[in-house]
Amino acid sequence: MPMQTHAGEPGAWRRFDLTRVPSPCFVVDEARLEANLRVLASIQARSGATVLCALKAFSMWALAPLVSRYLPGVCASGLWEARLGREHYGGIVSTFSAGYKLDEIEEIVRLSDHVVFNTPAARDRFLPVIRESGRPVHVGLRFNPGLPLGEDAKYDPAAPGSRLGTPLEQITAESLEGVDGLHMHVLCEQNLDPLLATWDHIAPRIRALAPRLKWINFGGGHHITRADYDREGLVDFLARVRRETGLHCYLEPGEAVALDAGILVGEVLDLVDNDGPNAIIDVSATCHMPDVIEAPYRPALLGEAGNIQVRLGGPSCLAGDVIGRYAFPARPPIGQRMAFLDQAHYSMVKTTTFNGVRLPALAVWNSETNALRVVREFAYEDFRARLS
Ligand SMILES: Cc1ncc(COP(=O)(O)O)c(C=O)c1O
Repeated sequence: MPMQTHAGEPGAWRRFDLTRVPSPCFVVDEARLEANLRVLASIQARSGATVLCALKAFSMWALAPLVSRYLPGVCASGLWEARLGREHYGGIVSTFSAGYKLDEIEEIVRLSDHVVFNTPAARDRFLPVIRESGRPVHVGLRFNPGLPLGEDAKYDPAAPGSRLGTPLEQITAESLEGVDGLHMHVLCEQNLDPLLATWDHIAPRIRALAPRLKWINFGGGHHITRADYDREGLVDFLARVRRETGLHCYLEPGEAVALDAGILVGEVLDLVDNDGPNAIIDVSATCHMPDVIEAPYRPALLGEAGNIQVRLGGPSCLAGDVIGRYAFPARPPIGQRMAFLDQAHYSMVKTTTFNGVRLPALAVWNSETNALRVVREFAYEDFRARLS
């Protein structure tokens, strides 16, 4: 989940003509996506681990065939992502939810290859459904290493009092009855060191439990495709865990799949002078990039330069629907296009139609061929269909 320690890299977007798409519009560069996927596939090939794509971060299924060419499956946060994974991606579907509903679990079991429970009690409740299904579903249990290494407790599932995962010290041989693997997820936009520190913290316990298990899933939050990520170290680490424990390793990065692969294009609708210029644009923080407010963070603006500071904010009624202050060479005229960087992950999946604000269109660009296709535009009917 984004804290956005990584502001975004302009890369090939400098060459993209922002007027080629409707506004607002998420544009994903399939060449950059493929470059990220190659990096992840190489980690997989060299380490012997399995790398799944976390749909919660990036589930633009128009690009599922490309994702599936490199990664053998997806991780899902519940029924609907599991269904999307099964219908569009194929391969392994590994589902974890902190709370399953009785009326969904049968379908989840039908769609998933791994079902990961948050507690031994949830395992007890739902194991009979898995057994009755007759499907060879792997059962996982999420544990909490209890070593908070994140910068912000909001994005640290290992923070004190966390509801995510059963504290490792509570996991006994009895907790592992009917369980094939252990799952943890504690990182957020992090390099290798916190994973190594977490492993040092949990390794004695995991080694003791390993003979009862087949696999361990190290969750997401690994910023593997960021230029400074220690990829060799990760390959060595995964191979070492395999050697020391005999467990097959899984990773389920989301953000790393789509890092720097997308932008959100918008345009100026109006200007209000109040303690400097405020530009109202058709991109809303609250509707289209909610992490700007929630994290909070300031997304980087493509080609930002100049001496005039302009506040950019959305068209909604929320006073705090402000994206940030940005430098422009001159007051931006009405209709001027702009683009926020690194918006492929955790933005498209989080949009809302609060105030009836239009959802951004979805487009795919190829920075190598310059080919562009708008794969989806949203209309009044999409807003209406979510209400009644
Ligand atoms: C269980 C689980 N797996 C994977 C991920 C993906 O993490 P990221 O997109 O940071 O790699 C998350 C993110 O919250 C998660 O909760």
